[in-house]
Amino acid sequence: MSLDQILAVLPPGSGEEALARQIDFDRLPAHVAVIMDGNGRWAAQRHLPRVEGHRAGIESVREVVEGSARLGIRVLTLYAFSVENWKRPATEVSTLMMLLKRYLRSELNTLLRNDIRFRVIGRTEDLAADIQGELSDAAAKTASNAGMQFNIALNYGGRAEIVEAAKRIVAEGLPADALDEQRFSEFLYTAGQPDPDLLIRTSGEMRVSNFLLWQIAYAEIWVTDTLWPDFRKRHLIEAILAYQKRDRRYGGINHPAVAGR
Ligand code: IPE
Ligand code: IPE
Ligand code: MG
Repeated sequence: MSLDQILAVLPPGSGEEALARQIDFDRLPAHVAVIMDGNGRWAAQRHLPRVEGHRAGIESVREVVEGSARLGIRVLTLYAFSVENWKRPATEVSTLMMLLKRYLRSELNTLLRNDIRFRVIGRTEDLAADIQGELSDAAAKTASNAGMQFNIALNYGGRAEIVEAAKRIVAEGLPADALDEQRFSEFLYTAGQPDPDLLIRTSGEMRVSNFLLWQIAYAEIWVTDTLWPDFRKRHLIEAILAYQKRDRRYGGINHPAVAGR
């Protein structure tokens, strides 16, 4: 996973190629999380039903999964369906689930070929049995892959995840003084994974919409007006370049002119 890997899938001499060459591969975000938003607006702009936006968004998922794996990102988390998204019309929800199922079927070989480990995070127990089956099948078949960890957040809610973790801690009878931030995080869906360094949101919305609330404590946030179905590898590269220009302070003072004082 490297510059060569990503250049292999970018048009030679293109703007994307020039951007990719600017990436510092020693300072990649370990975990990139994406709030894929704007499918409905993309469809509305074309006078199409909302579900056409979801359908078109699948290509963006392919681009980002392949792009991230080739760049050498260790963990990619895509927010596909929130616990709040059940408020949408039943036909939209069922189309989203159908598209997910189709995506998993058609992409399984690509995931295997690219050594990608797939898993779902969220309240999977509330999903239809056929979807649960498809998800666990994809997770089981890719479980021994050693490349990028690819999480899909499905029926996911950040607050629900934290409450769930607290319940399991109580159920296990963990004594209060054994609990600290590190131990608590081991009860989250993302146990063992690095926290997101970079959080991308499409469609210009400046909110986190209940996504990875615990884990994004110090994530760098990058918002683009691009609607999800228009998101391509180029945008991922732009986000990484912007991330690499950030001064991450974690509450301290990193600036060389200030740090020495
Ligand atoms: C993101 O697009 C997809 C999901 C949340 C499932 P939206 O469907 O939220 O699109 P907008 O925000 O209405 O444009
Ligand atoms: C966030 O998008 C959820 C997903 C991307 C799955 P929403 O469109 O549901 O979020 P809000 O309603 O704009 O906050
Ligand atoms: Mg939305």
